[in-house]
Amino acid sequence: MEEYRDRLPVSDTTPVVTLLEGGTPLVPAQVLSERTGCEVYLKVEGANPTGSFKDRGMTMAISKAKEAGAQAVICASTGNTSASAAAYAVRAGMVSAVLVPQGKIALGKMGQALVHGARILQVDGNFDDCLTLARELSEKYPVALVNSVNPVRIEGQKTAAFEIVDMLGDAPDIHVLPVGNAGNITAYWKGYREYAADGLASRTPRMWGFQASGSAPIVDGAPVLKPQTIATAIRIGNPASWEQALAARDDSGGLIDKVTDRQILAAYRMLASREGVFVEPASAASVAGLLAKAEAGLVDPGQRIVCTVTGNGLKDPDWAVAGAPQPQIVPIDPEAAARSLGLLD
Ligand code: F0G
Repeated sequence: MEEYRDRLPVSDTTPVVTLLEGGTPLVPAQVLSERTGCEVYLKVEGANPTGSFKDRGMTMAISKAKEAGAQAVICASTGNTSASAAAYAVRAGMVSAVLVPQGKIALGKMGQALVHGARILQVDGNFDDCLTLARELSEKYPVALVNSVNPVRIEGQKTAAFEIVDMLGDAPDIHVLPVGNAGNITAYWKGYREYAADGLASRTPRMWGFQASGSAPIVDGAPVLKPQTIATAIRIGNPASWEQALAARDDSGGLIDKVTDRQILAAYRMLASREGVFVEPASAASVAGLLAKAEAGLVDPGQRIVCTVTGNGLKDPDWAVAGAPQPQIVPIDPEAAARSLGLLD
């Protein structure tokens, strides 16, 4: 917030509630570059304080809520927003309440909300039901809504686009990201447009968004009543920023498409085992989409491409462990250890 203060709706008197978010790594992706014939980078948003891009928006939302005198905040979440809201509420000395779909959020995210002292309600429904409920509660009771339907969240999240242009010296040709409630694609597109309008970038990128195939309302053209995917962060059937996502797609000459859970998991494992970057499954949807398009011959070589990987792999480690070989048990003996490692014949 401090770095881009002049581009954010804050005044000298806005209290800045921060955990020093942003400034995340833009990592050159060697294997992805080879596979696509392009210059591919990963914007590693899992390096934010609570492990996801949500912190960029949450510093804004909680600061503005504090400025307005709110004592409590509320959100609906598939896990990352709630973890972020809980942490920033602690910094602000506020109470946080979070509504999550019962049994459908990753354990690490639940642990974060719990340890930060959030009031957690598990709702017998999906994310879309949680958001409806959170909106109603914020209208009727003195609690500030900090979901991305709150426009200051989008303002905070657009800073990721600024950082990318500042690092690369211009906007990339294509920006790829996962799409759930569609706040982030809206935010990046806003950031890129603002920089281009002010002459800080010569162009805007084509925005490529990817949904999970069991939760792809924007691609299918209708809300999904029972969204399904192993990528629980983007298990959303009726995105709040649907119209804005379509505008980002169409105005940028981009696309929004879907990837299967199998493609998501393949990209997830590839990122960890070949690029050394551990992300949560939903984050891998961006990379899965890029690889699918490249395999279909739809990515011209030589382009500069940034994929946002939105959340840290530690949030949902079940998928790292599942299907992996069990580590061997060895006695305290160098020879036995060496044999197990294949160092002895
Ligand atoms: N990736 C991760 C890791 C997320 O947590 C989310 C959204 C997205 C991608 C999609 O971003 O909604 O802006 O299109 N998570 C929200 C939450 C819904 O509650 O944490 P989006």
